[in-house]
Amino acid sequence: MSNIKAAITAVGGYVPDYILTNQILETMVDTNDEWITTRTGIKERRILKEEGKGTSFLAIKAAEELIQKSNLDPKEIDLVIVATATPDMKAASTAAYTATQIGAVNAFSFDLEAACSSFLFGMSVASAYIESGRYKKILLIGADKNSSFINYKDRATCIIFGDGGGAVLFEPNEEGFGVQDEYLRSNGEGREFLQATYGGSSYPITADTFHEGKHYVFQDGKTVFKNAVFNMADVAEKILKRNNLSNNDISWLVAHQANKRIIDATAHRIKLDDSKVMMNIQKYGNTTSATLPLLLHDYESQLKKGDNLIFAAFGGGFTWGSIYLKWAYNS
Ligand code: UT7
Repeated sequence: MSNIKAAITAVGGYVPDYILTNQILETMVDTNDEWITTRTGIKERRILKEEGKGTSFLAIKAAEELIQKSNLDPKEIDLVIVATATPDMKAASTAAYTATQIGAVNAFSFDLEAACSSFLFGMSVASAYIESGRYKKILLIGADKNSSFINYKDRATCIIFGDGGGAVLFEPNEEGFGVQDEYLRSNGEGREFLQATYGGSSYPITADTFHEGKHYVFQDGKTVFKNAVFNMADVAEKILKRNNLSNNDISWLVAHQANKRIIDATAHRIKLDDSKVMMNIQKYGNTTSATLPLLLHDYESQLKKGDNLIFAAFGGGFTWGSIYLKWAYNS
């Protein structure tokens, strides 16, 4: 077994300026601030409004912040992965465009899609490449412009989702810091409960389906909620057991931000105090692939070398899992 682990060595993040508050949503659909706050924990979300700007815009901004903060020469990056459920376009890779725009001219790049688990699964891919010794600098970006496929007349979805991007750099570490273990799962029987049915290869958009709004995201919130609560808590508990970790050993829970009640239930199952639970859902809502790196971005100054982080996510597909990582630096 190689003693090389894949450590996160730099973080960047970006959210658009426009703030869609619960009060504004009250004027758009039949909802209210109190309902949204108590049922989801969300107060506001960011929306990328400018015409012609897609997920790559968010990815590039997040990556540029990381590059600037860490003095990274983008020419040294070997691989750029863009984890996203909302690529810029069909057929043309969002990651390829992103890599070129940030000056990663010696990298290859690809998109990785696993709905809200995209970034988590990207961590697995990046760490496997690093541990193998094949690549030394991997930029993993999680970015989604969810507003591009949300129906702002559907109160079951429009109150939840927002736009954003986050980026991390993975590098080899021989002191034991970095990814320690992972437990990743999927179950395709879940896809009927969360999907944008039209616009993919099964059902191309027609004039009729367009008028019926079938290209927008549909969610059976209750079913997704139940599965998310059960499975996110389950994998977090399993990864703790497998690594002989107690709640006292955990520094932070880094959980996908879909609903505060799901995050609380996961923390409760592994008996973790609220003070160890990263939370920014109140500011950004559910940014799909961007929630985990945006948490690292917001909490970076509080992270210490050696901290034990438990990542957990659940999303469409269904896809879900947990990763245990030892933080590698003090900022
Ligand atoms: O990112 C990965 C995947 N996504 C998730 O993990 C999201 C999972 N699901 C959820 O977070 C929640 O199911 C929602 C936030 C989407 C909905 O919350 P809920 O507590 O499951 O509400 P519900 O759908 O059971 O609806 C409860 C009530 C209903 O009224 P009645 O039938 O009790 O009179 C709804 O019509 O709340 C009503 N309702 C609303 N009221 C005000 C539903 N949506 C809204 C709304 N504003 N936006």
